Amino acid sequence: MTSTESRPGRLDGGAPVLRPTAHTEGDWTVVDEGWGRKAADFAALSEPGNCREYVAVHHRLGLETGVRLVDVACGSGLAIELACVQGAVCAGIDASPRLVEIARQRSPDADIRVGDMHALPWSDASFDVATSFRGIWGTTTTALTEIHRVLVPGGLLALTVWGHIKASPGAWALAPFRLAATAKVEHQAAMVSLGRPGAGEAVLADHGFVEIRRFDVPFAWEFPDPEMFARVLASTGPAYEAIQNVGEQAFIAAAIDQATKRVRDGLPLRAEIAVVAYLAHKPTGHEGRAT
Ligand SMILES: C[S@@+](CC[C@H](N)C(=O)[O-])C[C@H]1O[C@@H](n2cnc3c(N)ncnc32)[C@H](O)[C@@H]1O
Repeated sequence: MTSTESRPGRLDGGAPVLRPTAHTEGDWTVVDEGWGRKAADFAALSEPGNCREYVAVHHRLGLETGVRLVDVACGSGLAIELACVQGAVCAGIDASPRLVEIARQRSPDADIRVGDMHALPWSDASFDVATSFRGIWGTTTTALTEIHRVLVPGGLLALTVWGHIKASPGAWALAPFRLAATAKVEHQAAMVSLGRPGAGEAVLADHGFVEIRRFDVPFAWEFPDPEMFARVLASTGPAYEAIQNVGEQAFIAAAIDQATKRVRDGLPLRAEIAVVAYLAHKPTGHEGRAT
C-alpha cells in the first residue's frame, strides 16, 4: 500500500473524517490473491446476499432497455447479470481474473474486463450509467475521475458504500475482519470513511459530480447456520487479510463463535448492515444556460 494523502475534516461532528485526494491503493494485480482465492464460494454464496442492494439501486436508476451501463469493481458480476435482465447493455471491470471469469460466464454478451478501476479501458463518454457496489472506497476515490471521464455528459453514477457499521444490528458479521493486522484494520476504517454523513457528497463534488443525493439501501445477509456464515465470510477479500494474520482455522473458529451467539431456532442468521448509496450526475455542460 502507498501512503494516504488526506485532508482531515470533522464532517459529522465525530471522529476526524479522511478525505483522500489521491489514488492511494497499491498494486491492483495482487487483489485476486484475496478476492479470487475462493471465487466460486464468493459468487454462489456471498454475492447473492447483496441482492436487495442491487434491486434497490437499479430501481432508483430506472434502467431502460438499451442503456449503456458499466459496473466498476463488479466482482463476480451478479449486479451486471441483473442489469442485463433489465435490458441494459453492460460492461464491467474487476481486478480479480477469477471473479471476472464467473462474471463472463453469467453475462456472456457483456464486455467484462480484468483491470484497474483507476485506469478504465474505455473511451471518454462511453456509458450512460455507472454503478459501483461497495467497490470504491475512501482510499480509492481516483476511480471517480475515471468514471466521470467514461460517462456521457449528463450521465448518472450510483455508488454504494458501507454506512454506520457499528450502529448496524449485523455489525457482528463484519467483526472477524478485525483479526487482520492493525495496519490493515486501520486501512479498512479509512476505506469505509466515504459512508459518513457529508463525506461521499464532498468527494463526489470534488470529482466534478453534481445533483448528489444520498439514500439508505436495504442490505441483509442471511445464513442457515454458523458454519455456513464462516465459509461465506472467508471467501471475501478482507477475510483474507485476517486469515493472513491469524490463519484460516482461527478465522473460521472466530466467525463461528460470533454467529453461534446469534442463533435462534428455526430462523436464518440475519445480519442487517447499513449501506449508503449516492446518486450523482456528470454535468451536461449546459447547466445555468438560458434555453
Ligand atoms: C467489496 S467487493 C464488491 C464486489 C461486487 N461489486 C459486489 O457487489 O459484490 C470489492 C471488489 O473490488 C475489486 N477491486 C479491488 N481493487 C480493484 C481495482 N483497483 N480495480 C478493479 N477492481 C478492484 C475486488 O476484486 C472486489 O471484487
